[in-house]
Amino acid sequence: MKLQILGAFFVTLLMVNCGKKKSEVAVEASFDVDAQLAYCVEQTSKALKLVPAEGNIPRNIAPDSKEWRYVDYKDWTSGFWPGELWYLYEFNNEKEWEVSADKFTEYLRPLSVTPALDHDLGFQVYNSFGNGYRLTKNPDYKDVILKTADTLATLFNPNVGTILSWPRDVPNMEWPQHNTIMDNMINLELLFWASKNGDNKALYDMAVSHADVTMENHFRPDYTSYHVVVYDKDTGEKIKGVTHQGYSDSSMWARGQSWAIYGYTMVYRETKDPKYLDFAQKVTQVYLDRLPEDLIPYWDFDAPDIPNTTRDASAAAVVASALLELSTLTKDENLAKEYRNKGEGMLVELSKNYQSKDINTACLLHSTGHAPAGSEIDYSIVYADYYYVEALLRLKKLNEGIPVLAALHKI
Ligand code: GLY
Repeated sequence: MKLQILGAFFVTLLMVNCGKKKSEVAVEASFDVDAQLAYCVEQTSKALKLVPAEGNIPRNIAPDSKEWRYVDYKDWTSGFWPGELWYLYEFNNEKEWEVSADKFTEYLRPLSVTPALDHDLGFQVYNSFGNGYRLTKNPDYKDVILKTADTLATLFNPNVGTILSWPRDVPNMEWPQHNTIMDNMINLELLFWASKNGDNKALYDMAVSHADVTMENHFRPDYTSYHVVVYDKDTGEKIKGVTHQGYSDSSMWARGQSWAIYGYTMVYRETKDPKYLDFAQKVTQVYLDRLPEDLIPYWDFDAPDIPNTTRDASAAAVVASALLELSTLTKDENLAKEYRNKGEGMLVELSKNYQSKDINTACLLHSTGHAPAGSEIDYSIVYADYYYVEALLRLKKLNEGIPVLAALHKI
């Protein structure tokens, strides 16, 4: 605790002394990471008691409700709830949390043996079975993850060099041409893991190809990203860059950019190729430069009704988590301090002003899922909670001198 206080004070001092662009959310000496994690344990423990029947997985809560809406294992968000339970088990090391995490993880097992519905298999299986394996080393989990990676690989199109994100007719995507969405970057982690743990170089090559082709086609000159790129499925030629969940084809959709920041940080970690580090820093910089003072983005940076529109706490949580890792990877000391400070600042703000205590049993309020479709606007959403808990754990580990991806407890 003493170290934590000194660390935070030091970070604040550095900010002032370097004369760098000051974060308006001062990192407080009193920010108590354990208390925020304990709060998430308490909320999640209440939510667990509400789950109605086997197979139901919490996804979201509307702003005028206390009731979770549940999905089954096929939903793209199904891995976040078990993943969050694994993280909370990592925090408190209590057997009953391992039992709950395992129970919800098991619901997703069919994904490893059925044809791919879409690219989200990484979000689903890596967050659930992947975290479970990291913490328990259960060989059966490993088998599920390896099988799922092979399933995800069936969506890779070598003519294009990326994974087909939505293998179906989605409006404006010119089906049967090939679409790839920015969110898909996150699912490469499953391929990298399976390549390393299943001795399959082809999966590594697919992940690298996907990252390269996306880097080439998914970004504008200022490093903001398109949500979707549509390619000719036979020639690999880029047909167009468009949005699906953002405000417009030329806007910076907050969560899309957060996936880019998190994704290229992870690709650098997995490959150690400096071009990905450089790119992660560039896609991060434009996001940080355009953030509002409190470090929590509006749902789209170019939404015309800012500031009278909704925020996206989920994007903030994703970026907080990514920045805490990026702070340990960058070679630039000033950037390391900025990433650590901003990542921590985002967590301070989420903890102070976005927690859903006394309102519902999620951890956070105010995320935006799919604004153009009028869906999940200003909701509590499970992936915001997942990345919030992940980021808090990463900060706790940094404060304790532990690598961000290590397990807090020995198995
Ligand atoms: N499509 C995943 C997301 O909403 O970020």
